[in-house]
Amino acid sequence: MKIFVPPIKSQGIKTKLVGWISSNVEVLEYDRWVEPFMGTGVVAFNIRPKSSLLCDSNPHLIRFYNSLKNKEISGRIVRKYLTEEGQKLIDSNGQHYYYIRDRFNSEGNPLDFLFLSRSCFNGMMRFNKKGGFNVPFCKKPNRFAQALITKITNQVKNISQIIEIGNYTFKHQDFKETLKELKPNDLVYSDPPYIGRHVDYFDSWSEEEEIILKEGLLKSNAKFILSTWLSNKYRTNNYVFSVWKDCFVSTKKHFYHIGGRELNRNAVYEALLSNIELKDSISNAEMKSRIMLNASQLTTDEKEYMIPAQLALALEEQKRLKKKPHC
Ligand SMILES: C[S@@+](CC[C@H](N)C(=O)[O-])C[C@H]1O[C@@H](n2cnc3c(N)ncnc32)[C@H](O)[C@@H]1O
Repeated sequence: MKIFVPPIKSQGIKTKLVGWISSNVEVLEYDRWVEPFMGTGVVAFNIRPKSSLLCDSNPHLIRFYNSLKNKEISGRIVRKYLTEEGQKLIDSNGQHYYYIRDRFNSEGNPLDFLFLSRSCFNGMMRFNKKGGFNVPFCKKPNRFAQALITKITNQVKNISQIIEIGNYTFKHQDFKETLKELKPNDLVYSDPPYIGRHVDYFDSWSEEEEIILKEGLLKSNAKFILSTWLSNKYRTNNYVFSVWKDCFVSTKKHFYHIGGRELNRNAVYEALLSNIELKDSISNAEMKSRIMLNASQLTTDEKEYMIPAQLALALEEQKRLKKKPHC
C-alpha cells in the first residue's frame, strides 16, 4: 500500500490508520471533506477528496501547507535549505539547532518549522505557555544526511503535487469556527486531541470541548467520523459510551512501541465513531455489552488496507504529463 507521508512529523499522526479510514469512507458520498483538526494532514492527503477544508489551531501547520500551496516552498527549496542548515548543524556539533529554534520562535519561518520537526527529540511537537517551540535537539549533529534530505524533499514534492491537483483550503482556526462553516453535504473527519493526554499551547482538550464538538457536529447535519481510542490494557474510554453514545463504533487494534523495544508493545483499540453506519461498525450498545461480557472488541478482521490504486496512479500520471515537453 502506498501511503503518502507528509514531511512534518507530529505525535497523533494517523499514518498507520489511513488505510482503515479510507476503506470506511470510500463508499460514502459527499461534496466536501472537512477536518477541524488537520494535524499533519496525512488523512486528507491520502483520501484525496475533490474538495476539502483543513483547519487547525496551530498556525505553523497551516502556514507550512499554505506555503506549499502558494509554491513559496518547493522540493528544490527544501533540498537547498536542509543541505545548508544541515551542514551548519554538523559544524556546530548540534548547537545550530538552538539557533534555528530561537529564529523560528521569533519569526515563525515554515522552513525552520520543518527543520525542527525533523531534528527535534523523538519528532515531538510541543509548544510552551508562550507558544514557543520547546523540544530539545535529537542529539545527532549529522541528522540531515543526504538520504534523509532526499526523503524529505520527495515528501515535500509529493504532498505539493497532491495539493496542486486537488482543491485544498487550509485555515488557521479553532474547531468552533470550523463547526460554524459546516454544510449538510460535508463529510467531517474529526481527530481531536485525547482528553487529558497532554496539554500544550496549541493542543489541549477538555470534556467541555468534547461536548461542544459533538453538539456542533450533530447540529450541522453533516456525516461525521471521529477518531478516538476505545481501550487499552488498563482502561476504557468511557466518553465513547457517554458523549458519543448515539454513534456507531468501528475498531482496529494498533500497537504502539515505547522506546522501540518489542517487549514494550502496547495494544490499543482505535475507534472510529460515526453518526452513520460504517463498513465494519456495530452499534454503541453492542460494543458496550461486548466490553461488559469481556468479548472481542474488534469489529473487523485484522487485515492490510489498500488505498485505491487509482490514487497512486493519478499522481504518477500527473508527474508523467509534467515531464512531457510542450509542443
Ligand atoms: C490528534 S492531532 C490530529 C492528527 C492528524 N489527524 C494527523 O494525522 O496528523 C490533533 C490536532 O488538533 C489540533 N487542535 C488542538 N486543539 C484545537 C482546537 N481547539 N481547534 C482546532 N485544532 C485544535 C492540534 O494542533 C493537533 O494538530
